[in-house]
Amino acid sequence: MKINTVIVIGAGTMGQGIAQWFAQQNLTVEMVDQNFEFALISLNRILQSFDKLEASGKLSNADVTLFKKNISVKKIDEINSNADLVIEAIIENLEAKNKIFATLDTMMSKHTIFASNTSSFSITQLAQSVREERKANFLGIHFFNPATIMKLVEVINGLETNIEITSSLIEWFNSKSKVACKCSDSPGFIVNRIARNFYGEALRAVDTYDVDKFREVDQVMREVGGFKMGPFELMDLIGIDINFSVTESVYRAFFDEARFKPHRLQREMVAAGRLGKKAGKGFFNYET
Ligand code: NAI
Repeated sequence: MKINTVIVIGAGTMGQGIAQWFAQQNLTVEMVDQNFEFALISLNRILQSFDKLEASGKLSNADVTLFKKNISVKKIDEINSNADLVIEAIIENLEAKNKIFATLDTMMSKHTIFASNTSSFSITQLAQSVREERKANFLGIHFFNPATIMKLVEVINGLETNIEITSSLIEWFNSKSKVACKCSDSPGFIVNRIARNFYGEALRAVDTYDVDKFREVDQVMREVGGFKMGPFELMDLIGIDINFSVTESVYRAFFDEARFKPHRLQREMVAAGRLGKKAGKGFFNYET
């Protein structure tokens, strides 16, 4: 599989990390966001991250110079329509995702692979937004947060995806120091399905906004459970709005099975703008 140019749509938490990771693989990366100013801020953060990696000796000056050149911000109508791969990493909203894929379908070359970084929507369902001929080239590539560091990549084979493309991409990621695994197109794929109860049971156990209890649960899960992060700090890192949308979507996709039911505290936190680290406040408060 040859991938030279990648378009990343959405320059938020995930888009920024995904764009940086691809630039570090020495590919040409174009990053797009509906908020152009925000995309420029994200680009700046990536450039700063390269500088930090150089300062700490993790990357050489030559690499950093090269990687910085690999990445640019574009408006949607300026992207390279001949790119090999488009990864969509916009908000977890089905209508918005369908709309962007339909637009891209009219713009991109026949050979371009379309991928969604969705955490919870069905790839087969998302693929309905593109023309019949594109469906074989449509799959899920689910990175984890932070995308530059987390090794796992779930590659999701939709009902109409050409399995050879899925397998080649898995091989490609594995050759680039990621650990890629093939997932079937079931709600939440592997990790997000299992993780629903990690968050859900923690929310049900604490039940109301209580920072001391959040801290206590996190500490127990870290120190006794052996998890790297507790559920509350992890929800703050992921983004409470994103995590809530994913929970709702997995719940609906399993025909309202009680074990996947969202918790009202998630809805309250979103309403209050306590979206986690990115907002400076979530279950915990952060310095911005
Ligand atoms: P985010 O809220 O940080 O960023 C989303 C970005 O998309 C925003 O900058 C927004 O301006 C932009 N956007 C919205 N609509 C757009 C459009 N039509 N065209 C271009 N840009 C648009 O969201 P985040 O956390 O980066 O999530 C993105 C996707 O990645 C979601 O599907 C989410 O489920 C998935 N994901 C999130 C993870 C996380 O830990 N946050 C982990 C793995 C997957």
